Amino acid sequence: MIATGKVYFIGAGPGDPELITVKGRRLLETADVIVYADSLVSEAMLRWARPGAEIHGSARLTLEEILAILVTSARQGKVVARVHTGDPSVYGAIFEQMAALNREGIPYEVVPGVSSVFAAAAALGAELTVPGLAQTVILTRLEGRTPMPAGEKLRGLAAHGATLVLYLSVGMIGQVAVELAAGGYGQATPVAVIQKASWPDEKVVRGTLGDIADKVGATGIDRHALILVGPVFDPDLARPGGGAGGHRSRLYDPAFAHGRRPGGKGSSRS
Ligand SMILES: C[S@@+](CC[C@H](N)C(=O)[O-])C[C@H]1O[C@@H](n2cnc3c(N)ncnc32)[C@H](O)[C@@H]1O
Repeated sequence: MIATGKVYFIGAGPGDPELITVKGRRLLETADVIVYADSLVSEAMLRWARPGAEIHGSARLTLEEILAILVTSARQGKVVARVHTGDPSVYGAIFEQMAALNREGIPYEVVPGVSSVFAAAAALGAELTVPGLAQTVILTRLEGRTPMPAGEKLRGLAAHGATLVLYLSVGMIGQVAVELAAGGYGQATPVAVIQKASWPDEKVVRGTLGDIADKVGATGIDRHALILVGPVFDPDLARPGGGAGGHRSRLYDPAFAHGRRPGGKGSSRS
């Protein structure tokens, strides 16, 4: 009988090595083989690899080469850590790997991670869902070499006026601004671009839809960045007199009861 190991798809988080989950770190420490996305996963993560672990950067490998490592190692009974940046389920290209492992009968498990959108929100001091401003978050990208399905064109998504976060698109920020304006965001809509959120060399550019392309162009940021759009990114919102008082949540409103805090006057739904 062939001993079968297991493949763990692990979300490494956005960059700061401390933002990997406890489970992800424990698996890294025990893995026999580590295949990590060396273009965006910090090498500092490898400090947790056990001595003698076999380590591969995946940036230069094709899908077939990555699969060959995963399948061969698991068939040898090894524990394999396939480490992705952020959360593996967001633009992580894990679907094709899971499909192949299913075909090969190799067991696997996905360990979630902190997506870069959450590190960006933290760096900006923003809540993505401020009552009265936005209660919906759209994670998307501008069409590039990967075509967008019908109904997911950026200008159509922009028409919702929700909090919108674009991955993989900063290199086309001029075009992004045009599409967002065509979809209905006003030129004064707050926009932030954050490169390498949670890394020591993190960069933040704040502006509006009207000026963000020029500001980002001046910094030379063209990769490893998110574009965050919507009224919740107004830098003045949380400042004294900045209007946050008008946007408080029902959850902590004394007038509203809920299961954990009965006795308020209002509805039990937030
Ligand atoms: C292939 S996608 C992977 C996304 C990742 N799975 C996640 O959950 O964040 C790579 C893109 O994610 C974004 N990204 C990843 N890490 C980032 C970070 N620390 N700061 C800003 N953007 C980041 C950039 O848009 C980058 O081009």
